[in-house]
Amino acid sequence: MLNIIPETYKEILTIRQLITQAFGQVKVAELVDIIRESENFIPELSLIAVENGEVLGHILFSQIIIETPNQTIPSLALAPLAVKPSHQCQGIGSRLVETGLSKCREFDYPVVIVVGEPAYYQRFGFQTAGQFGLRSSLSFPDEVFMVLELKPAALKNIAGTVRYPAYFQDV
Ligand SMILES: CC(C)(COP(=O)(O)OP(=O)(O)OC[C@H]1O[C@@H](n2cnc3c(N)ncnc32)[C@H](O)[C@@H]1OP(=O)(O)O)[C@@H](O)C(=O)NCCC(=O)NCCS
Repeated sequence: MLNIIPETYKEILTIRQLITQAFGQVKVAELVDIIRESENFIPELSLIAVENGEVLGHILFSQIIIETPNQTIPSLALAPLAVKPSHQCQGIGSRLVETGLSKCREFDYPVVIVVGEPAYYQRFGFQTAGQFGLRSSLSFPDEVFMVLELKPAALKNIAGTVRYPAYFQDV
């Protein structure tokens, strides 16, 4: 049975290896290590998918700021999501996203931002962020910059810039 549970220090090396395998490069795994040491890390929102004691996937939601003309709004960024290559396309990524989003709803954040493949993230309710008046401090094609409201109409009065911490810049 597949369980989605928070990471512990015991899995950190395994997570690093899994992310490196999934992305074919070490930079994304290094990003997770940096976020883990930052003030934006939320331990309950770094989740692993485990089956028979084996870590098969990982997802991380970390704090990010949306700046509007009159306020800064703490929100969440989904990044990265990785499934062990030998176990992809078996629903593990979807379980991580769905369980992760329900955990996010237990916190008081209005939205989750993701930069990713629309064909994948639309199925979880993510929509193009630009249509809500959100811009990004980093430059992405419009269609990959997406947002999901964690509460109904959460974005109604939020139009502004998603301010990516510097550590996202090189990935
Ligand atoms: C993307 C990823 C997390 C998906 O996890 P998964 O467990 O393989 O996916 P699921 O089994 O939940 O979903 C499978 C569906 O996703 C689609 N899919 C998988 N990877 C995709 C991608 N990169 N782009 C678009 N669709 C993708 C499959 O075609 C399949 O579609 P279907 O349901 O219409 O048949 C996984 O393939 C992965 O780790 N890829 C490498 C790292 C990466 O690109 N991460 C995402 C960016 S943060």
